[in-house]
Amino acid sequence: MNKVLQNIYARIPRTYEPVNHILTFGMDIITRKKAAQIAAADGGERWLDVCSGTGEMAGYLKKLSRDGTKIYAADFSLPMLTLARAKPFGNAINFVISEAGNLPFEDDSFDLITISYATRNINSTPEGLLSHFREFHRVLKPNGRFVNLETSQPKSGVIRRLMHLFVKLTVAPTGGLISGSSAGYRYLSGSIRSFYSAEELADILYKTGFSEVSFDRRFFGVTAIHKAVK
Ligand SMILES: C[S@@+](CC[C@H](N)C(=O)[O-])C[C@H]1O[C@@H](n2cnc3c(N)ncnc32)[C@H](O)[C@@H]1O
Repeated sequence: MNKVLQNIYARIPRTYEPVNHILTFGMDIITRKKAAQIAAADGGERWLDVCSGTGEMAGYLKKLSRDGTKIYAADFSLPMLTLARAKPFGNAINFVISEAGNLPFEDDSFDLITISYATRNINSTPEGLLSHFREFHRVLKPNGRFVNLETSQPKSGVIRRLMHLFVKLTVAPTGGLISGSSAGYRYLSGSIRSFYSAEELADILYKTGFSEVSFDRRFFGVTAIHKAVK
C-alpha cells in the first residue's frame, strides 16, 4: 500500500493544492486554518505535523507559533516535501522523510501532533490505523495533544448522500484531469466515501489510549476536527 500511495503522491505535488482548493471550494483552507488554531492554542515547544505533504498545515502552525517553538513536518514522499521546503516558511520548518507509523523520534518528545487530510491514507486496515495512532501517542509527551483534521460522514442522510454523489462525480474526473493521475484521484474519492463517522473515529482514538477526545464538525459534518490528549 505504501508504494502505491508513494507513487500517487510522487505524480501530483504541483497540482495537489489547486485541485483541493477547486474541488472543496476553498473549504480545505478554512478547515486547515481552524484546525491549526485549535492545535496551537495550548502552546508547547515541539510540534510535529505528520503526513505533511506540501506543508500547508505546517505553514499555518508556523504563523501561530511563539518564538522558540520547533516545528517538524514528516512525510514519506520526497516530491511533496520538496515542494513544501521551497515555500517562504520552508527554512523555519524541520522536514523529515518518514513513514508515519515508524517515526524517528523518542518517546514523550512532542507537545503537539497534527495530521490533516491524511488519516484516510494511514487507514489501509482498521489495525493499520490503530498502529499509526499508537505511534503518535508514543512520541507525544504526557498531556500532549493530537489534532486530526479529516473528511467525515455528515449525520444527515440527505447531506451524506449528496456529498458522496458529489465526490463520486467530481473528485476522480476533475482531479484526474488536472493532475494527470486518474488512479490517484479514484483512490482518494473511494476513501472519502468509506471513511469513519466522527463518533467512530473518536472511539478509535479512545481505543488507542488517548483521553479527553472531542470533535468539532465543520460544513454540515463533511469534515471533522478531533482533539485528543495523551
Ligand atoms: C492527502 S495528502 C495530505 C497533505 C497535507 N497534510 C494536507 O493537509 O494537504 C497525504 C500526504 O500523506 C503522505 N502519506 C500518506 N501515507 C503516509 C504514511 N504512511 N507515512 C508518511 N506519509 C504518508 C503522502 O505522501 C501525502 O503527502
